[in-house]
Amino acid sequence: MACLKVGVVGCGYWGPNLVRAFTEIPQASVHAVADRDRSRIEHIQVRYPYIEHFALDYRSLFNLSLDAVVVSTPLGTHFEIVRACLERGLHVFVEKPLATNSEDARLLVELAQAKDCILMVGHISTYNPAVRELKQMIDSGTLGEIRYIDAVRVGLGSFHSALNVIWDLAPHDVSTLLHVLGEPPLSVSTRGIACVQESIEDVAYMTLMFPSGILAHSRMSWLDPRKTRRVTVVGTKKMVVYDDVESHEKLKIYDKRVSAVRPTDTFGEFQFAYHYGSVVSPYIELEEPLRLECLHFAECVSEHEQPLTDGWNGLQVVQVIEAAQRSLREGGIPVPVNGERGAAPTLREVITIHSPGIAGRDGAYPNVGSTTYPKKSVVDGAVLTTVSTDVLLRPNDGEPVEPLDVERPREIDLGSPSINGDDAQGTVP
Ligand SMILES: NC(=O)c1ccc[n+]([C@@H]2O[C@H](COP(=O)([O-])OP(=O)(O)OC[C@H]3O[C@@H](n4cnc5c(N)ncnc54)[C@H](O)[C@@H]3O)[C@@H](O)[C@H]2O)c1
Repeated sequence: MACLKVGVVGCGYWGPNLVRAFTEIPQASVHAVADRDRSRIEHIQVRYPYIEHFALDYRSLFNLSLDAVVVSTPLGTHFEIVRACLERGLHVFVEKPLATNSEDARLLVELAQAKDCILMVGHISTYNPAVRELKQMIDSGTLGEIRYIDAVRVGLGSFHSALNVIWDLAPHDVSTLLHVLGEPPLSVSTRGIACVQESIEDVAYMTLMFPSGILAHSRMSWLDPRKTRRVTVVGTKKMVVYDDVESHEKLKIYDKRVSAVRPTDTFGEFQFAYHYGSVVSPYIELEEPLRLECLHFAECVSEHEQPLTDGWNGLQVVQVIEAAQRSLREGGIPVPVNGERGAAPTLREVITIHSPGIAGRDGAYPNVGSTTYPKKSVVDGAVLTTVSTDVLLRPNDGEPVEPLDVERPREIDLGSPSINGDDAQGTVP
């Protein structure tokens, strides 16, 4: 297997883990790193001085004869960067979630197909040996018929100001559910609350109904005293608890069940037969999921095979989250997955106003084209505003994009219809 020449774009919190993982596997080598923040480049440069190329602008990676690009930038930038890479025939590994809406996700999947490129989404739980074991137990019938699944993913932080807890945390539980159950849900309903930042939900409860009748629930929070990563699967024969915070005994199989029996001789109530058996924790070889994920990508590129978490899988996850987001906005109603177009996430934009007469400290909404932003507050001459990505379009294909200058604050000229934010880029219709 030839050694894959990789470039990594985005080295904030998660990107350095990908740089490490790809440098540690013999099947790949990291040749270039790009981040628009100079301090993040310096951080990587000190640790990996032998990496040949560092850049502020990811597009300079396109001249380096790379095989693949690994994208670990904020969600709002995924579409633009992944599209640019695929258009140049580069294979792409992009962090979860694939895109901010299913339309963009589908375009990327189709582009990857047209260009005959591998597109893989970093749904890391699929590569977790404990999750694989869990899937094997479900598929083999060890647990009996699955009745319901309860997932908890909570802790204190990490707060985002650009997207809510659903877009941050739900990809993990949704991709786990899709993987272990092998089917997408029919519908999703979600309730949530914004406790710390205005309009950015930090706590959410998401309920999913699956075609096979299984009910699943995911509780997500950035505002909880204890870090918990737990999935409980209840079957008719056995129950399993998968606890990812546990260092060794991540899976515990409980030989417990209950059955309701109606006595034949009376019209009386059900009688319940409880079974309490032993608790077993199967041995699972400790292997780093991130390493397995990176290995899988390198192998899929080398063999030209579709990854387990390919673009279609990434699209399915986006469809579920999109429906969850729409349900959240509509008071928790069940929203069909794959049905109507769901709501895009709310992305916050910090923008500097060129025309103070149009919007400034007086609290007037900035008005761009026909769009009125729903919320805003004024911070030191910049307007902090909440913008639905529904109103953000991508730049025109042929339009040259200005190179990013990390020394300069992000700016918006209200005289022109373009927006440049931290997490999205585009024009307002
Ligand atoms: N698999 C996991 O467990 C996991 C964990 C955390 C984050 N993530 C994912 O990783 C991605 C990045 O998250 P993060 O927490 O590291 O974010 P972050 O904000 O900490 O880092 C993002 C980096 O990308 C850089 N960047 C932004 N736009 C850029 C551009 N146009 N060109 C070059 N660089 C750019 C920023 O300067 C920053 O250094 C997200 O998709 C997130 O969902 C995955």
